[in-house]
Amino acid sequence: MPTILGIESTAHTFGVAVVRNGKILSNCKKVFTTEKGGMIPMDVAKFHCENKNEIYFEALDEAKITEEKIDAVAFSQGPGLAPCLLVGMRFAKELPKKLKIPLVPVNHCIAHLEIGRLTGAKNPVMLYASGANTQIIAYASGKYRIFGETLDLGVGNFIDSFGRYAGIGFPAGPVIEKLATKGANYIELPYKVKGMDIALSGILTNLRQKLESKSPRDTASPMLPAREPAKAGDSGEPKYSLNDLAYSMQETVFAMLVETAERALAHTGKKELLLGGGVACNSRLQEMCRIMCKERGAKFFCPENSLLVDNAGMIGFLGEIMFKSGIKFKGKKIEGVDILPRQRTDEVQVDWK
Ligand SMILES: Nc1ncnc2c1ncn2[C@@H]1O[C@H](COP(=O)(O)OP(=O)(O)OP(=O)(O)O)[C@@H](O)[C@H]1O
Ligand SMILES: [Mg+2]
Repeated sequence: MPTILGIESTAHTFGVAVVRNGKILSNCKKVFTTEKGGMIPMDVAKFHCENKNEIYFEALDEAKITEEKIDAVAFSQGPGLAPCLLVGMRFAKELPKKLKIPLVPVNHCIAHLEIGRLTGAKNPVMLYASGANTQIIAYASGKYRIFGETLDLGVGNFIDSFGRYAGIGFPAGPVIEKLATKGANYIELPYKVKGMDIALSGILTNLRQKLESKSPRDTASPMLPAREPAKAGDSGEPKYSLNDLAYSMQETVFAMLVETAERALAHTGKKELLLGGGVACNSRLQEMCRIMCKERGAKFFCPENSLLVDNAGMIGFLGEIMFKSGIKFKGKKIEGVDILPRQRTDEVQVDWK
C-alpha cells in the first residue's frame, strides 16, 4: 500500500498531506489572508517559503509517519500563480531526489473534481466554483470536458473583488455569505448567461456603482425633488445596504451557476451533480443546487468544506490514483517536470480512469 505525500501551492494555500489507500491521514495547511486588499503573488510565494517546512513536519506528525515511509510525492503542477507554483514544485522535488522515489504532477482542477469520489459520486457533472476558476465539467471519452465556464472572472475572485470594494479583506466569500443572510431586499442586477457560459465583470461594475451610490442629502427645501439622481461622492447615506447587495449578488450569480449546471445535466443525461471549489462552501449555493437536483430527480453530492477549498489532501488523493496507474517521473526525468500555470482541465489526458 503506497504512502503518498501531497503538496498544494497554486495560490493562497500552502498545504501538505499524507494519503494512503484513498484515506487522508493528514491534511495540513496555512492560508495567506489580508485585512484589506487582495493577494500579491510575490508576497504569497514568500509566505509559502516561510511556512513550508513547518507544515511539512506537521503533516508527517499528524499522519504518524517518518519521511522514509513516503513512496511518492504528488504536487499541484497547475493552473495557478507561477511564483506560488514554483515554491511548491521545488519543495516537491527535494524528497524524490533524496529518497529516490517518484514525482507525480497533478492538475489542481481535476483534483478538486476527483476528491468528489469520497462522497460516492460515480459519474457526475461537476460545478467547479473556486477563486480563479468557474467551470461545468463532465468526463467523456478520455478527458474531463468543459461544458460551460466563465468568460472572464472566476466566481470566487469576483466575490473577493466585490468584498474588496466594500472594504472587506481576503478572502471575502465567507464574510459576504454572513452579510447576505441579513439582506431582506432583492436589488436587481444584470443576469449574464450566454449559452452555457457566464460573464461576471459587468455585474461587478454594476455592484461597484451601487456600492458607491449615495442617497440624496436630506434637505428641508420643498422645491427639491424627493429623490435626486444619486452621484458618486455625494455626502449622503449609502443608497443600498451592503447586506442587500450581498444577498442580491448571491441570488443572481448562484442562479446563473445553477442554470448552466442544470443544462449540462440535461445535455449529458447524467444523473449526478457534484459541487467543488471554495465557493461551494457557501450554504446558499449548496441549497440552490440541492433544490434543482430534487426537481429533476438527480443526486446531489458535496464534499466537506476542508476538501472544497484548496488543500493538499485532494492532491495526494489524485496523486495516489495516478501513481497506481503508472503515471510518475523518476530519476533524471524529474528535472524535466515543470509548472504549468495556464494548464486547462480539458488538456489533461486522463489515463487513470
Ligand atoms: N462561504 C463562502 N461563500 C462564497 N465564497 C467562498 C466561501 N468560502 C470561500 N469562498 C471563496 O472561495 C475562494 C477560494 O477557493 P479555492 O481555495 O478553491 O480557490 P482558488 O484556489 O483561489 O482557485 P482555483 O481552485 O481556481 O485555483 C475564495 O475566492 C473565497 O472567497
Ligand atoms: Mg482551488
